[in-house]
Amino acid sequence: MPDFRHCATALFVVLLTSSSAVASSELARSKNCVACHHAERKMIGPAFKAVAERYGKDETAIKTLSERVVKGGGGHWGQTPMPPQPGVSPEEAETLVKWILAQ
Ligand code: HEC
Repeated sequence: MPDFRHCATALFVVLLTSSSAVASSELARSKNCVACHHAERKMIGPAFKAVAERYGKDETAIKTLSERVVKGGGGHWGQTPMPPQPGVSPEEAETLVKWILAQ
């Protein structure tokens, strides 16, 4: 009996990667990030493109920014602080930050 488990895993990874951009923008909408952030325009918070330009794909930035998304932050972009997002798990925050930095 051949073992198909690895094939299933590989297929799953492919599916996950191809749909992750869409999934992340859905997540940003469902977590209400879009109430204060727009991809290209500054609103209450900075444009996600501006965040991506500032931090690039720096691995340490992913960690710092994920923490700031959950705990809130301020003084990095202006006078308005970002409130903590208790409804966002650290994993979700990381997914969102990776997606933001890829814009
Ligand atoms: C109530 C408005 C508001 C909401 C909701 C909000 N943000 Fe923000 N966000 C801000 C503001 C304001 C800043 C700028 C804070 C600063 O100057 O340091 C910011 C900054 C950021 C930054 C950059 C942080 C830094 O230190 O440079 C990221 C990344 C970010 N937000 C992601 C998110 C994500 C992801 C969500 C949804 C889970 C979200 N924000 C929801 C207002 C908001």
